[in-house]
Amino acid sequence: MTGGGGFIGSHLCISLLKKNLEIIVLDSFINSNKKSLKRVYEISIVNNKNALPIKITKGDIRNIEEIDCLFSQSIKEGNPIEAVFHFAGLKSVRESILNPLEYWDVNVNGSINLLKTMDKYHCKTIVFSSSATIYGLSKNCLLHEDSAINPNNPYGKTKLTVENLLYDLHKKNPDKWRIANLRYFNPIGAHPSGLIGEEPKGVPNNIFPYICKVAAGIYKELKIYGDDWQTKDGTGVRDYIHVLDLADGHLAALDYLLKSKPQIINLNLGTGKETSVLELVNTFQKVNNIFIPYKITKKRVGDLPYLVANNSNAIKYLNWCPTRSLNEMCEDGWRWQMLNPNGY
Ligand code: NAD
Ligand code: UFG
Repeated sequence: MTGGGGFIGSHLCISLLKKNLEIIVLDSFINSNKKSLKRVYEISIVNNKNALPIKITKGDIRNIEEIDCLFSQSIKEGNPIEAVFHFAGLKSVRESILNPLEYWDVNVNGSINLLKTMDKYHCKTIVFSSSATIYGLSKNCLLHEDSAINPNNPYGKTKLTVENLLYDLHKKNPDKWRIANLRYFNPIGAHPSGLIGEEPKGVPNNIFPYICKVAAGIYKELKIYGDDWQTKDGTGVRDYIHVLDLADGHLAALDYLLKSKPQIINLNLGTGKETSVLELVNTFQKVNNIFIPYKITKKRVGDLPYLVANNSNAIKYLNWCPTRSLNEMCEDGWRWQMLNPNGY
């Protein structure tokens, strides 16, 4: 697993350890903390004494030797890597506009290194972290995997480029590659233990960690980026999904790939439920009984008014369905913030 120390990867590790799967993590920890994986193991061992320790390597996906070393080592040990979850990457839309070279280098060159190495060692099963940001403006209707693709920022373009590259690889070797491009909508929340969660470095760009930090008194107020969008209450509408439901979707995707014939599949991972910024703020306030001061400011450059998934393909192919409510997302995310005011 690349990027396994991060927000989504660490939550997936819990699901994988439950199944007694062996995990090798490659992470530079540029946007995460090794402690997340220590805590994953602590959580896992409580209910499963046989949970295998996670093998952790600190390394950068831009360094192909480091990736090669992991694959060759796994073969030497007689336990070759069977599949890869590829999370490693940079994910801030704003930063990608400011520093496109870095985003293309990590997200695209890093992925090329990984795929070259997978190809070399005949490991041809990959679950790739793509994003709903690759879709264009949607006229307030649910986004289907076949909806228009038109990313409006460098980050989204890097994700689309990797999807296209995976498509080409599959086309060249359709009997070998098993590929799932999972297009995430807006993962929030945390493990209910409060031991692992999202720890953005610096000022959060995303709304949910920002709300948590306003609730904790770290920031004075939330800025709501516009209340005159063509949406139900004028604020931006998104599809928030509990990070544990998202993690379960990955396990289901791996299961599906291993059981089916080689293929490439694009799947939206979202709940299909619309939530406006004001609805999210109100829910957070209600379930946690805490006041979130906010002010309406101008729109954020590059924002879209409406991004909500049609998740029927994921439900159909993966035998998966998100079950956790917005209330649980708000409770679990706030618990993580309260128990870890300074992060890990
Ligand atoms: P995250 O930043 O918490 O995790 C990414 C991990 O990759 C981090 O642990 C980071 O240290 C590591 N990493 C970054 N650059 C690296 C490099 N060059 N070499 C090795 N490791 C490196 O982010 P996340 O929220 O867990 O997201 C995981 C993936 O999902 C990312 O690819 C992201 O683009 C994608 N995604 C996330 C969201 C979201 O809202 N969180 C939405 C859509 C897609
Ligand atoms: N918003 C605010 N105030 C803030 C932050 C955000 O009002 O301080 C609003 C935005 O305008 C938007 C909504 O909250 O309407 C959600 O914004 P986020 O920044 O939390 O999330 P985005 O949907 O813009 O982007 C996120 C990730 C991307 C990912 C995308 C997939 O940052 O990496 O979800 O849908 F690709």
